[in-house]
Formats: sequence, structure tokens, C-alpha cells
Amino acid sequence: MFDLASYLRRIQSLVDARLEQILEREHGAPQALVEAMRYSLLAPGKRLRPALVCMGCAAAAAPEEQALPAACAVEMIHTYSLIHDDLPAMDDDDLRRGLPTCHKKFGEALAILAGDALLTLAFQVLAEAYPSATAAGCSLELARGAGAAGMVGGQVEDLAWERDTDAGRAGSREKFLLRSDQPHSAEALEQIHRMKTGALFRSCLRLGVWSAQGEREAGPEARLLDDLDAFASAFGLIFQITDDLLDVEASAEETGKRTGKDASRGKLTYPGLLGIDGSRLRARELAEQARAHIARLGDAARPLAALLEHLLTRRR
Ligand code: IPE
Ligand code: IPE
Ligand code: MG
Ligand code: MG
Ligand code: MG
Repeated sequence: MFDLASYLRRIQSLVDARLEQILEREHGAPQALVEAMRYSLLAPGKRLRPALVCMGCAAAAAPEEQALPAACAVEMIHTYSLIHDDLPAMDDDDLRRGLPTCHKKFGEALAILAGDALLTLAFQVLAEAYPSATAAGCSLELARGAGAAGMVGGQVEDLAWERDTDAGRAGSREKFLLRSDQPHSAEALEQIHRMKTGALFRSCLRLGVWSAQGEREAGPEARLLDDLDAFASAFGLIFQITDDLLDVEASAEETGKRTGKDASRGKLTYPGLLGIDGSRLRARELAEQARAHIARLGDAARPLAALLEHLLTRRR
């Protein structure tokens, strides 16, 4: 049987070692900035996105080590998104990955700048590591997933849909960030989740496939990308459904971040809209779809299949 736990541990230690090396090369950068970047980047996150990049590479029949620079680039983008997500102007959180959030530890200005530097460094890593066609393909996919029509756009929508609550601050949001007068709907919810979370998962698998290219000039096989896109779309939604469920059901000790916050912020979430059981049902339906999308890939997709099952019952 495929041992997902040891697979994830292996990828995590390879990725952490590579991230450490990359940061050591940042000569000439202010020490405090590098310290803030390292603090958040090497904090004990799950490294799920790097694992997906490696799994995408394996699905394209190349050794996972080839995907390590791409895996690191995605983790940098993800970490920057978490640093900014936690800022007072956004979700205003004080705990992340079991530690004080970056702005609590280093102040808001340095936290914003550490995020900026990680975002930029991600693209530098791709350009340095891969032949030009692969670097360009990876950069395009990562920019799409992380940018205005992807993660950042999703974050804007997430904030815009916050409802005013006693404890929340949606009432004080600038006018252009307000949609709370519109009825909450499953369509709006899914659209937010697809952008803020799903788009980067899609990029992960696509970067994995691109990094499997090696020196080849021709781009990746379209059918493989289509199957992996469809898988990533369902996977991303399930991931955010379970993130929303953990916010309701789990403890800060388990997740490494404060829980019970989405409702007090008036966020539009799955459990908020469909209830706990409805959310679980939706996750199971999506998992059914995700399994079907990778069925034809056989053994090459075993890690992906195992990660999907793990997602449904995760506690962190
Ligand atoms: C949290 O992501 C942010 C969301 C997209 C919901 P993770 O749960 O993957 O966070 P880490 O990387 O393990 O800290
Ligand atoms: C954040 O979603 C998604 C990002 C792009 C960072 P959440 O706001 O739900 O993530 P957590 O729960 O704070 O990790
Ligand atoms: Mg948020
Ligand atoms: Mg948040
Ligand atoms: Mg959340």
C-alpha cells in the first residue's frame, strides 16, 4: 500500500532543506528581512502545495526531485499569502503554524515586506533553476494562479463578502470592498474558494508537469493538464471546505491557528451556508469527481489519490 505519511515527510524534508539553502543565498538583503522571511517560510506548515507539485511531476513520469525548485517557489507564494492574510487589515490573526503571526513578531511593515520579498523570490527561483522554456511555463502558471484572477482576486472577494457582525469589522470596510448587501449563495461561495484557494492548487500540478519537461522544448501533454486541472479544481474546493470545517470544529492546538473566527468575522463559508453535514456531503461529492479525473493515470497518480482521501478526514 502507498504510504502517504512517509511520502509527505520525505517531500517536507527535501523542500525545507532547499528553502533553507535558497534563503542562505540572499546576500545583501537586510538581516531583519531575511529573518522574517525565514520565520514564516520555515515554520511548520504542512507543505501540501510542494507535495502536489511533486505529485504532478510524478504523474508526468519524471523523478520528483526535478520538481523541487518549483515546489519551493509555490511554498514561497503560499507563505506570502498567509503573512498578508493574517494582517490586521485582512483577517487580523495572531497565530499561524503554531507561532505568533509574522506581523506580531516583526511588526506590520516588515511582515508586508517579507511577503513582498517571498513573492518576488519565487520567480527568481524558477528562473535560476530551469531551462528557459520550463522557467517561462512555470512562471506563467504560477503568476496566473497567484494573481488578480486567482489567489489575490479570491482574497479580495473573500473580504468583500464579509458580513457585518458585532465582533466583525465588515461595517468599516471601504465601499469598494463591500458586497455584503447581496444574498449569500453557494455560487458566490464556490467562486471565492475557486479563486482564493483552488487557483494555486491548479498551478501546483501544472508546475509539476512543467518541471517534468527537462530540456524538452515542446510543452506538456494537453490531456494530462486537462485531467490534472479537473482534479485540482475539485481538490481545491475540498481543501477549503475542510479548512472552513476545521475553523468550526478543531482547536488551535490541532491547526496551529485560531479557530472559530470565520463566523465572528461574518465570512461566507461552507459550514455557514450549508451547515456541517451539508459541507461534508459536498466534500464527498467533489471527491467522487476528483477520483474519476485521475482514474486513467493509474499508478502514476497513486500519491494524488492518497492525498485526496487524506484531505477528507484531515485535522490540521
Ligand atoms: C491555509 O493553508 C490557507 C488556506 C488556503 C486555507 P494550509 O492549511 O495549507 O496552511 P499551511 O501551509 O499548512 O500552514
Ligand atoms: C486564506 O484563506 C487563503 C489564502 C489565500 C491565504 P483563510 O483566511 O481561510 O486561511 P486561514 O484559515 O487563515 O489559514
Ligand atoms: Mg482569509
Ligand atoms: Mg485567514
Ligand atoms: Mg480559514
